Amino acid sequence: MKTIVQKIKVPFEYPVHFTHGLFSSGNSLLAETLNPDRKSAVKALMIVDDGIVSANPDILHAIEHWFEQHTEQITLIRAPIIVAGGENAKNGWSNVLEIMRCAALCHLDRHSYIIAMGGGAVLDMAGFAAALIHRGVRLVRLPSTVLAQNDAGIGVKNGMNEGGAKNFIGSFAPPLAVINDFELLKSLPQRDWISGTAEAFKVALIADLEFFEWLCANADRVPARDQQTMEKLVYTTAKLHLNHIATSGDPFETGSARPLDFGHWAGHRLELISNFSISHGEGVAIGIALDCAYAMLQKFITATDFERVVRALKKCNLPVYSEFLERMGTDGEPSVFQGLEQFREHLGGELCVTLPRPIGDKFEVHQMNMRTLKEALHIVQSL
Ligand SMILES: NC(=O)c1ccc[n+]([C@@H]2O[C@H](COP(=O)([O-])OP(=O)(O)OC[C@H]3O[C@@H](n4cnc5c(N)ncnc54)[C@H](O)[C@@H]3O)[C@@H](O)[C@H]2O)c1
Ligand SMILES: [Zn+2]
Repeated sequence: MKTIVQKIKVPFEYPVHFTHGLFSSGNSLLAETLNPDRKSAVKALMIVDDGIVSANPDILHAIEHWFEQHTEQITLIRAPIIVAGGENAKNGWSNVLEIMRCAALCHLDRHSYIIAMGGGAVLDMAGFAAALIHRGVRLVRLPSTVLAQNDAGIGVKNGMNEGGAKNFIGSFAPPLAVINDFELLKSLPQRDWISGTAEAFKVALIADLEFFEWLCANADRVPARDQQTMEKLVYTTAKLHLNHIATSGDPFETGSARPLDFGHWAGHRLELISNFSISHGEGVAIGIALDCAYAMLQKFITATDFERVVRALKKCNLPVYSEFLERMGTDGEPSVFQGLEQFREHLGGELCVTLPRPIGDKFEVHQMNMRTLKEALHIVQSL
């Protein structure tokens, strides 16, 4: 009997909307997204990051009121599930189990929706739960941080931390839709407002020189909380990320190359060794500084360009150094370096680190010279 070769092609398409005041009474974007044909009401279960609720005490009332006004299109099957935001949301299984139990109790089916509203951590966790219930219910993400709106909430994957490794567990599960409500960014603590901009630098440095120039020129408007600058930054970063996912030829990351993880091998490691006192965005900013110092030593970028990167990150109030860089591992080497092996293991196959060469373009290396990397570490320490 001859081997039967099974071939399945599944095209994915989802909109990433940008709006202001999603739950204000005149805004029907969510209803149009969930029930465009105005058929009988669809069922939805909502999960909300408690950081949004504490910073916007009226939001739950606004959500309730909005759903009351749209009962013909959507039935919210119970009050939103509020989960503690931040990295802890994806450490451990309790949130995922709670969502599963609620989904079962409320008879959520495969035509129902999970609407997840929150930062990247809550979206990663809720997206994972949604991917498991009935082998995948429709997910609508409402990202609420800078980082979630420009990166974590718009892509095709979810993740949970397990076994001492970031995102050890997770799946590829494109959402049905994403709606970025810029109003939500206004209540962010300054630290989260700033840290999400690291992903903008990341993608600009390897893919878009013009955007990098724009970031350099506008970086000081970020700590001043200029809303227009932030909206442009989020939009451009999201567009670059989406473009990469759509055109890289490897949306589900089966190969080893992972350009969008530039700066992340060190960033993820710093998050872990600092017990998450360094946030994802902050870790990425430091990782970018370290990898750019390495790229300069390897003559991939000029010293002037390296200085521009550092100046712009600093103008943005992003960190370029942390004392955790000096933490030594049991092998007598800086503990952060273990991030390289963890990164390789996560990707599988050979190590593949993306670096800028020159700024606005990327280059992959399959090994890093440890002596040069140590020199890069000293450069970052001296910043
Ligand atoms: N799946 C992906 O493709 C992907 C990509 C990049 C990052 N990530 C993940 O995203 C996570 C980081 O996400 P993050 O930077 O959004 O941080 P976060 O999710 O940890 O949120 C930061 C803080 O902001 C609070 N918050 C959220 N929205 C708020 C609002 N509107 N007002 C006030 N407070 C609010 C949260 O409660 C939390 O305390 C990491 O776990 C990272 O691994 C995932
Ligand atoms: Zn990231």
